[in-house]
Amino acid sequence: MKRDNFSGTFGVLVALAGSAIGLGNLWRFPYLVGTNGGAAFILIYLLFVFVLCLPILISEFLVGRRSQSNAVRAFTTLAPKSKWGIVGVLGVLGAIAILSFYSVVGGWTLNYAVKAISMDLLHTSEQVTDTFNSMVTSPFEPVIYMFLFLLFTAGVIIGGIKNGIERFSKIMMPILFVMIVMIAVRSVTLPGAGAGIEFLFKPDFSKVTFETLLVALGQAFFSLSIGCGAVLTYASYVKKSENIVKTSALTAFSDAIFAMIAGLAVMPAVFAFGVSPTEGPGLVFIILPEIFEQLPAGGFIAILFFFILLIAAVTSSISLMEVIVTYIIEEFRLSRKIAILVTLFIATILGTLCSLSQGVLSQIRIFGLNIFDFFDSLSANVLMTLGGLLLVLFVGWKLKKEDFMDEISNSGTLNHKILYGAIYFLIRYIAPIVILTIMIFGLI
Ligand code: PHE
Repeated sequence: MKRDNFSGTFGVLVALAGSAIGLGNLWRFPYLVGTNGGAAFILIYLLFVFVLCLPILISEFLVGRRSQSNAVRAFTTLAPKSKWGIVGVLGVLGAIAILSFYSVVGGWTLNYAVKAISMDLLHTSEQVTDTFNSMVTSPFEPVIYMFLFLLFTAGVIIGGIKNGIERFSKIMMPILFVMIVMIAVRSVTLPGAGAGIEFLFKPDFSKVTFETLLVALGQAFFSLSIGCGAVLTYASYVKKSENIVKTSALTAFSDAIFAMIAGLAVMPAVFAFGVSPTEGPGLVFIILPEIFEQLPAGGFIAILFFFILLIAAVTSSISLMEVIVTYIIEEFRLSRKIAILVTLFIATILGTLCSLSQGVLSQIRIFGLNIFDFFDSLSANVLMTLGGLLLVLFVGWKLKKEDFMDEISNSGTLNHKILYGAIYFLIRYIAPIVILTIMIFGLI
């Protein structure tokens, strides 16, 4: 069977950036910055992204492109008769876990986009809190929206790689950048925005703990979509002529820039209106509508914002669903349509559980967390970091160095020996040591 592929450099880049840029940047990043002390957290985060996570992104890209197979078979192809396939299995499980709670938040976003369009969002502060709480705890509304969000995602990937994922990302990603810049400009020009900008850029390292490092690392993994087979799966559809290092670096760069712009879109407004940045996961769903309410043309800005959030979420959820779908197509020899139906079925059941755990099922606790929070922290803090660790161990210690050099240099056509040597060193020694240290201390 001939495999589909991305048509060229721009297509690969927007798809990867689309996967990376998502709710992680617009919803998770601002509230983590808010609850973890601002600028110091951001600096640590950026350091992790470029020194640690970029080499992991490159490793994952390399494994995917070299093997041209799904997340599990990639490892068994490159290391036959070994146990490394388990890394891929972890990846597929991670993708399922993330997709489950991600589509719940995607559903909230869709719900808010609809509310914004029907002018049903902007109220006084107590009403806004009530709107959010009663929406997420209801046994029906968020489940239905979660399902619609999954259908939307499936609707994109049914078209395959080139005509589905690539085409959608090519249209949506540029629009996304323009729109978020518009919101950021509005936010930083509000009277009193200065305190928010200071919060984002003036570091105070006195509050940094190992916990902060673990959270920053988890966020870097989550935001770059690494450690759960998403980059690997996309890369398996990338042609041998693309430049792995350049595309990976541009992906990490766009993701970091987008996170910074998202921070500028949210924090200055939060400070300008004198609300606390430590609101947590409800930050963009509770605080922002409250702020939009008080802005001239706030109704329009609300539509714009929740539309941005929705597109960003879909360009990410398609990459999660594709991990599972590619795996099912290749391992069980099923058609894309059937594979998508199977994935929809699994994601709907788990997503429903995540959604209900905000309300009627909230008494069910796993390690003290409700199902939603359990899936969230299991994936970002355990599965993805563990997946990333095993991945660099695989590339640094199991794959032959000649194979690494051959793939990264497109069989010798690209000549950057020193750069490739440095990347190999980061992958082989620095990344595993740092990740292990942070995981151990963070967990203690
Ligand atoms: N990176 C995405 C975001 O920031 C989430 C994601 C994680 C997507 C893992 C794919 C794989 O929202």
